[in-house]
Amino acid sequence: MTIADKAVLVTGANRGIGQALVEEALRRGAKRVYAGTRQPLAHPDGRVTPLTLDVTSAAQIQAAADQVGSLDILINNAGIALYDDLSDRAALEQHLAVNLFGTYGVTQAFLPLLTRSRGAIVNNVSMMAIAPLPLTPAYAISKAAAFNLTQSLRALLAGRGVRVHAVLTGPTDTDMTRGFDIPKASPESVARAIFDGVDKGEEDIFPDLMSQSVAESWRSGAAKSLERQNAALLEAVSAAA
Ligand SMILES: NC(=O)c1ccc[n+]([C@@H]2O[C@H](COP(=O)([O-])OP(=O)(O)OC[C@H]3O[C@@H](n4cnc5c(N)ncnc54)[C@H](OP(=O)(O)O)[C@@H]3O)[C@@H](O)[C@H]2O)c1
Repeated sequence: MTIADKAVLVTGANRGIGQALVEEALRRGAKRVYAGTRQPLAHPDGRVTPLTLDVTSAAQIQAAADQVGSLDILINNAGIALYDDLSDRAALEQHLAVNLFGTYGVTQAFLPLLTRSRGAIVNNVSMMAIAPLPLTPAYAISKAAAFNLTQSLRALLAGRGVRVHAVLTGPTDTDMTRGFDIPKASPESVARAIFDGVDKGEEDIFPDLMSQSVAESWRSGAAKSLERQNAALLEAVSAAA
């Protein structure tokens, strides 16, 4: 799937990786980029259509879906990450509301359009989906859940021709990682690698040096082979029904 002439929707499009994804989609010749943001957004490129989109708001999700005529690629990028120590249930619920249920809600709303275009869903999860950093355990739990959602959607939607990609992003230099004194990728390089991964049809995209260090072992590992085995089981059950 190349981006040129496609309609792309990015959530959390006003800063960080989301903003870089909007710019990269434009650079690659997207015909329309829907930029989902909580605050009003103005963009100089006429191909950008701003959408008011808090991913925790069912009403805003529905209103956004009503404004989009056709869509090829949905990028669930909006996310929050707050420090916690799992002592506060509300912190866990807050992460799940945005990172899991936000991704779920937006996906369900745009699925009819993506099915029609035989399009793609790209979920920006995190390397923490496969190993938590216990400084942000609620965040890691929500990303593990969003990754698992991604894997199930991948199997469930394959028959409809909708591809579902997970991005196992490593540390990237945005507001989210301010205060972490570690090597970070630029949001621009991550955005490029995400679209390269979609172009190449990579199920799981490792868009930076840190995440690339585990890509090979992930792709040849037990969890990936079990995912494929389980997806084949679903196909067999569906075929027999
Ligand atoms: N930076 C990293 O190291 C890293 C690593 C792995 C994964 N990721 C993932 O990459 C994605 C983008 O992160 P980032 O680094 O670019 O972070 P960021 O700079 O903090 O940007 C987060 C974006 O999500 C939006 N957002 C937050 N809550 C939202 C909601 N309820 N509805 C709609 N939009 C909402 C924010 O909008 P507002 O401006 O309105 O708050 C902002 O646009 C996230 O899913 C994050 O988990 C990042």
